[in-house]
Amino acid sequence: MDISRIRVNKVRLRKDLEDLGKFGEEPDGGILRPALSDADLKAREWFKGRMRDAGLQVREDTVANIIGRLEPASGAQGAPCIATGSHIDAVLHGGKFDGAAGLCCSLEAMRAIQGSGIPIPCPLELIVFTDEEGGHYAGTFGSRAMFDLLVENEIYKSKGAGRPFMAKSLERMGKDPAQYTKAVRSPSEFRAFLELHIEQGPVLDSLGIPVGVVEGIVAIDRHLIEVEGKAGHAGTTPMRLRDDALVKAAGIVTAVNRTVRFLGPEIVGTIGEMKVHPGAFNIIPGKVEMTLDLRSMKKSLLKAARGKIREILRSIPGARLETALSKNGSKMDPRIMGLIEESCRQRGVSWKRMGSGAGHDAMTFPTRGIPTGMVFIPCKEGKSHCPDESIRWKDATIGAQILADAIMRIGFNTGTKSTSGKVRAH
Ligand code: GLV
Ligand code: MN
Ligand code: MN
Repeated sequence: MDISRIRVNKVRLRKDLEDLGKFGEEPDGGILRPALSDADLKAREWFKGRMRDAGLQVREDTVANIIGRLEPASGAQGAPCIATGSHIDAVLHGGKFDGAAGLCCSLEAMRAIQGSGIPIPCPLELIVFTDEEGGHYAGTFGSRAMFDLLVENEIYKSKGAGRPFMAKSLERMGKDPAQYTKAVRSPSEFRAFLELHIEQGPVLDSLGIPVGVVEGIVAIDRHLIEVEGKAGHAGTTPMRLRDDALVKAAGIVTAVNRTVRFLGPEIVGTIGEMKVHPGAFNIIPGKVEMTLDLRSMKKSLLKAARGKIREILRSIPGARLETALSKNGSKMDPRIMGLIEESCRQRGVSWKRMGSGAGHDAMTFPTRGIPTGMVFIPCKEGKSHCPDESIRWKDATIGAQILADAIMRIGFNTGTKSTSGKVRAH
């Protein structure tokens, strides 16, 4: 089997990426495409069409994951599949390539594989996961739903008063939210999972290396913090008689930042969203809701941060914390890493092994024992989750090619021992 016959098409891939970037496009070049918003729904329909054009059988599960499948012509129909996937939804005012790069490269890989005339060795799937970014609640929703990892009542929870919750968004699409457990699949349906993604950091771009082979993904804790005070008149209430929720929240923000810094460079913590109630010039804030995201490769550091932050909150009257998500870090499969590297070697592409500080749906699969790998491509100056997020078309093309080759190497069980973590230049 001659994998070098598989050739991705740079022009077709670029066109898909540009077209997908138009859904929710903002004047500054970024996008506003939260999960299951109108822009997201339109983008999903467009992408389903592109999948069908590529010969995939497309279906949607009960939590709106889109699943496109290619069956082998004979022999292995219904066998465990090799799946790839990523997400269409985006963070607020984010960039055009987070998630989108992985989907368009996966689609191009599938087209190139079919175009090569090499029969596929097992079913292939391309999955668009619902709400990876956590627009509704905690993130990686679609993949967690697929493997029965949602927290209790999650589809009825939101990040705070007035914000959307998943059950409502599913209803808006004509789905019955009560059916969400029907999206659960058995790990035995999967032979492997691969996700291509932009690195979202500066390492590959700064070194001029086109491919990152991901070794592991950080553990992530997400919490919702609520601080109660007493709303009142901003003109008549003397300062000494106030219980201002926002003043208490400000103390929490700085204390959390200090706590995380104190634990050293291997942990990061962010309070990235805050809602002040009721929110007016002339009302003393009565309640504040905020999100806290903590990440580290070391679970022990997350535990230490959590403990300390709980202690801080206990000392502030009216402060509460609810854990929305606690995800262990994930290790990528060494054999798949080796096959990605083998693909790079054969194509004369340099690569670097690295960890991922960003979360991905690829985190979910190893928790169910499914061998998983990730291919990173560079993003310019490492910028991501902002309108300036950008890639080079050449890098996307290389990434799609490596992805296609790796899918086939996994499928045909060809392979090699994994190599060391050194940068290889060819
Ligand atoms: C996803 O982009 C995340 O890392 O939060
Ligand atoms: Mn993201
Ligand atoms: Mn992403």
